[in-house]
Amino acid sequence: MMTVSTIASAPIVEADSPDCVVRAAAMLDEGRLVALPTETVYGLAADAGNGEAVAAIFAAKGRPAFNPLIAHVDGLPMAERLCRFDSLSRELAGAFWPGALTLVLPKKENALVHDLVTAGQPTLAVRQPRGIAAQVIAELGRPLAAPSANRSGRITGTDAQAVADDLGGSVALIVDGGAPAIGVESTIVKVEDGVITILRPGGVTAEELANFGAVGRAGGGAAIQAPGMLASHYAPNAAIRLDIDEVREGEALLAFGPDRASGFERAVAVENLSEAGDLRQAAARLFAAMRALDGYGATAIAVEPIPAEGLGEAIRDRLSRAAAPRDGDGIA
Ligand code: TXA
Ligand code: MG
Repeated sequence: MMTVSTIASAPIVEADSPDCVVRAAAMLDEGRLVALPTETVYGLAADAGNGEAVAAIFAAKGRPAFNPLIAHVDGLPMAERLCRFDSLSRELAGAFWPGALTLVLPKKENALVHDLVTAGQPTLAVRQPRGIAAQVIAELGRPLAAPSANRSGRITGTDAQAVADDLGGSVALIVDGGAPAIGVESTIVKVEDGVITILRPGGVTAEELANFGAVGRAGGGAAIQAPGMLASHYAPNAAIRLDIDEVREGEALLAFGPDRASGFERAVAVENLSEAGDLRQAAARLFAAMRALDGYGATAIAVEPIPAEGLGEAIRDRLSRAAAPRDGDGIA
């Protein structure tokens, strides 16, 4: 794999320069990544409906894991097209948006958000950021998936130069909006049984939220609530067998690349993550392929070897969580 230092860094444009919004939106529309300032931290943004663009976010993060991402919207109407709002969540959006509050809500079936954004789950995290990011979303007319703009394990990006140093080789454009006003990530909440449950503390305080209802904290800390940690969320009905070299009777086959495992003609169904062996395409197809294969009542899903490099690491991580023994809500 190429290292970042061998790739020229992306251009940095000032947020208030004349075509900044149009230029950023055009690149996002083409499926490229753009680093955008928000009032919390810089985000590494992609068109949330474009699976390969979202896969590129995970690749750019360095040590990729398919944690679900926040869908950034330009206001409540766009959010309502993506999620089903309860009245308290709607009230919170009205009070804090644009701002540092992210709401986790049931995703609508037809929402134009790729499976990789939700990590295949039924809920979606949504937030309306303040400033240029919301203008870019409005120009694009679609939500943006954006984690904080830092490589895994590095400090969250709070200025354009830091983002360029960290991610400059992976993005098409970096928008410089100066230092974010807040500087820490958004507060993530989920309304459960009328209680505002804080999944991750952030820019909006518990005291501010308490003006709107009872506030609770997720038991055991935010890490446990991060759905990527819950093995059961990813568990298909069928068992999963990784790195197979032969397909057994009754199994469905999750294939990768141009060559088939022996006995593939026995498979009750086959989905190929990428004929060409392209890991980004494979990542973009992963959740849909697992769901499709799970519908055949196979004894197991046999998975051809997927290289443990680049996005292959996240794909393998997700599959091995799915393969892990299940005991209710156990943490993988
Ligand atoms: O301020 C912020 O929130 C920044 C800016 C760029 O908006 N974004 C950010 O994204 O911090 P990220 O990806 O670094 O953190 C998002 C968090 C993760 O911990 C993820 O597990 C959680 O949101 N999350 C996303 N979707 C979720 C869902 N459906 N349910 C629960 N947690 C979710
Ligand atoms: Mg982060």
